[in-house]
Order: sequence, then structure tokens, then C-alpha cells
Amino acid sequence: MTLREEIAKRRTFGIISHPDAGKTTLTEKLLLFGGAIQIAGAVKHNKIRKSATSDFMEIEKQRGISVATSVMGFEYAGYKVNILDTPGHKDFAEDTYRTLTAVDSVILVIDCVKGVEEQTRKLMEVCRMRHTPVIVFINKLDREGRNPYDLLEEIDKELSIHTRPLSWPIGIGSEFKGVYNLYDKTLQLFSGDKSRIAEDVIAIDNLSDPLLEKYVGEDFANKLREDVELIEGVFEPLDINLYREGYLAPVFFGSAINNFGVKELLDTFVKIAPFPLSRQADVRMVNPEEEIFTGFVFKIHANLDPNHRDRIAFCRICSGRFERNKFYYHTRLDKKIRFSSPTSFMGNEKSILDEAWPGDVIGLYDTGNFKIGDTLSEGEKLQFKGIPSFSPEIFKELVNKDPFKTKQLEKGIRQLTDEGVAQLFVQTLGNRKIVGTVGELQFEVIQFRLSGEYGASCEFRPLNFYKACWFTSDNKAQIDKFFNAKTNNIAYDKENRPVYFAESAWMLQNSQESYPDIKFHFTSEFAADSSSKVLQ
Ligand code: G4P
Repeated sequence: MTLREEIAKRRTFGIISHPDAGKTTLTEKLLLFGGAIQIAGAVKHNKIRKSATSDFMEIEKQRGISVATSVMGFEYAGYKVNILDTPGHKDFAEDTYRTLTAVDSVILVIDCVKGVEEQTRKLMEVCRMRHTPVIVFINKLDREGRNPYDLLEEIDKELSIHTRPLSWPIGIGSEFKGVYNLYDKTLQLFSGDKSRIAEDVIAIDNLSDPLLEKYVGEDFANKLREDVELIEGVFEPLDINLYREGYLAPVFFGSAINNFGVKELLDTFVKIAPFPLSRQADVRMVNPEEEIFTGFVFKIHANLDPNHRDRIAFCRICSGRFERNKFYYHTRLDKKIRFSSPTSFMGNEKSILDEAWPGDVIGLYDTGNFKIGDTLSEGEKLQFKGIPSFSPEIFKELVNKDPFKTKQLEKGIRQLTDEGVAQLFVQTLGNRKIVGTVGELQFEVIQFRLSGEYGASCEFRPLNFYKACWFTSDNKAQIDKFFNAKTNNIAYDKENRPVYFAESAWMLQNSQESYPDIKFHFTSEFAADSSSKVLQ
């Protein structure tokens, strides 16, 4: 197969949802349809349970397992499908955001009873930022859910994305009869039998066909006719380009637990979802069809074996062909590295691979060379963009409890933050270390790992900050004044860029008003030229 053909058959995507909407169930059912697993339950028990809100032992146990489900690849209908797992637990949101930088599209799962929820909004914000194409799967139609029109309106309004239903439910909850596929013009009947993986599909091109009455009864047949007339009147036909540009989300209805609507979702997904496209690096756009290999690390998993400090770096291939045992150029470290046992992920099995293509995610064994965002190439000095750190929400000061282990603590916290467990900021005065996260759980994970892996002992002192943001300005006088006024509220991130810690929303607003020439940034990725100015 040529490079172009390999690219064209790849579909690399993530499934996102608010916890409990059915992401794990849908993932599993897709794997089942793709023949990647034989029994239901294989993915299910790997997920970080919601009960583990503060139980790091449980997290530790599950972390090992979740490596296996970080990427799940399978072949389906001539396509190579790569599902990138995103943790549902909100404390791992940052991990999810980063994984979204490595996908080409997403499937968003919404619970039809609950509609749009908090995590749905946050995740969609990230997708919108990157114009990621989104397909919506409205799940749990076997439950007494909300009116489908209301749900679509809510998605449109709250997630700021236009929708286009490609299937339409007939009844809901105990009266759920099935869906009509507006794309294929087929009726799919719901049996509620979880052991079946394929439901009855009946071709009905013309909805006035009396066959419809036979299958769903007169009342539901009439209601469906009305609904479809309305939908076809209100919605434009699906414009695939608008979907691929991230402006329009095709919507499917189904019930993942009952395997219902999943196959049609998958069949349409492989047809319309984008294959790997060009990606922006700092110096130029990189086209996947370039013969020269490039890729970037978006996730690092540590401690596979507690006796070694092994890590596995997940690298998304952006262009060319990756080959085992070939030397590649680590652009940040300016050195060549060879990988003798790169890993591929098929279903939930890992195996050593000899080659891989754009869109694939490979696992690289790492002894500490990688941090998140690192780029590999065949010699060209470039760095892929789009892997921002987000402004953390919880801040604590890291306090060393064992002065004899200072070095270990320094090393440990640097490595853990390289992995993306949390963000580290250091104040020049007194070398005070501030750790910022999006969830409480990370502090326990850090404490536990610093002690277990580095022999260091620490505690965390809560800090009363509301928000941290990067800042830049062209106005030297104003920025000098700001530095003088806010010495106690400024620390430096790992790239040595200054970060302002505001105590409250009011303080932040006040700073923005008092220093109008300073720009405050809420993700770490802002124009490199302006960030360098501030450092001069
Ligand atoms: P998540 O990964 O998004 O957190 O959700 P997950 O798939 O774990 O699903 C959350 C709960 O919703 C699970 O129930 C799951 O069985 C249920 N569920 C998923 N799809 C459907 C559906 O189509 N219809 C209905 N009625 N329920 C669905 P649980 O009780 O939390 O777990 P379990 O005991 O079933 O494993």
C-alpha cells in the first residue's frame, strides 16, 4: 500500500462525554463491532471509577491497566480505526485535553436524560478551539429521556455548534421502537435484547410506505412522518465539509448498552470522518504525505513496573513512515534516538511493531528523554503546536519534609510534571514551588509517587489563588511596573515564562483594567513572538 493509501484508511478519534453518559460502554461496543474484543466487559472494568474520587491506591492499580486501553486500534471495513481513550474523571481533564490534540475527530456522547452537562461543555470548548470535527451520539434512548428537539436545541445553544440529525428516534424510554436512519433511509428496530449485536434493519425509502405501520404501529408511523418532514424542512442536507471544519455536528440516537445505533454510527463515521490532515508546526505546515517521518508525544505513562522507572511515551505520527530501529531526531534535546521495541495497540493487545503510519499512535519506551509536546523528526528542527497547558484551578505549595532528600524531590517533581501530572511554577524569591492542577486527586498521586518512586517526602500547603495566567506585553514600562507591583504573585513556568497568580476574579479584572497593555493568556500556547518580548 502506498503512503497515501495508508493515510486515507486511517480514522483516529477520541470519545468524549460527561462521566456516566456511556463513553466506556460505547467504546466497548465499537470494539465489539470492530472484532477487536470478543466479550463485553473487557474495557468496562478498566475505567477509573467515579467512587475513586480520592483513592489513589485504586488509581495506581488502574493506571497500569489503563495503559492497555489508552489506544485501541482495529480494522473495520477496510479502515484502520484508532480510538484514543480519554479519562472521564474530571480530575484528569488536562490529560483528556492533551489527548484531543492527537485526534482527527471526536464522538461526543450525551445522555438523553441529562442532556448537556458540565464536562460536555468544557470538552467541547477544547474541540471548538481546534475546530475538531464532532459527531454526537445521543445515548440511553431506552430510558425516559428528554424530547429530541429540545436536546438538539440545547446542543446548538450551549455547545455553540450546529447540529444535523442523521437518525431520528421513534418513541423513547419504555416506548422506544427504534430509529429511522435519514442518511441510508432505513428503519432500525429496537429489540432491547442486549445479547444481539445486530438489530433488524428494514429499507424504507419512502415514508408513506405502509410497511412503516406494520413495524411501529399507526401512531408512531404518523409521528415519524411528521418529524422527518419537519427535520428535512428545517435542516440543510448534511454538508460534509462543514462537519470536517468543525462547524456542524451530525447527530445519531441510540442505546450503547443495547448495541443499538452503534453499528450505524460506526458505518457512517468511517465514511465521513476525516483521515489525518496537515498539522501546524512552529516553522511550517507538515503534510502527512511527506515521505519524512514526524510525530509528537502527547501523553506519558509512567511506572509500568514499579521496580524500574520505566515510562511509555505515546507518539502520534503526523507524516511519513515510522520504522523500528531507525534513528530519529529529538528536536528539543537535539539528539538522535533509536527505538528497538516500539509498541502498537490493537484491540487491547500490545505488540512490537516494525512500521507505522500517519494517524497511528505508537508507544515508545522511555528512560526520561521525553516530555509532553516533544517532537521527533528525521533531522529537521521543528516543534508541533497545539499542545497547550491550560490555566490550572487548584494551587498548592510543595513543601519538602525531608531535607536529606531535596535532590530527589527536585528531580521527582520535575519528571512528574514533564509527564503532565500537574504544572509546576517556581518563584524566584525563596525558590517556592507552586503546583497547579485541575483536580485534588493529582496532589495525592504526586505525594504517593514522590515517595514510592523517588524516596522523597512532601506535603502540600493550600494557596488561595483563583487563577494563574501567562502574560505578555510590548509596553516595557507597564510590564516593569506590573512585575514590581506583583512580585509575590508571579512565578515562572517550566519554560521560564512568567505567570501571574490572581487571588480573585476581582483582582484579575482589576489587573486587566490597570494594565491595559498587558495581555493575559489562559492557555500556555500564545504567539511565540510576544512571549519572547516579555522575557527580554
Ligand atoms: P462513562 O464511561 O461515560 O462514565 O459511562 P459508562 O459507559 O460507564 O456508563 C455509565 C452507566 O450508564 C453504566 O451503568 C452503563 O451501563 C449505563 N449505560 C450505558 N449506555 C446505556 C444505555 O444505552 N442505556 C442505559 N439504560 N444505560 C446505559 P452503571 O450502573 O453505572 O454501571 P454498570 O453496573 O452497568 O456497569
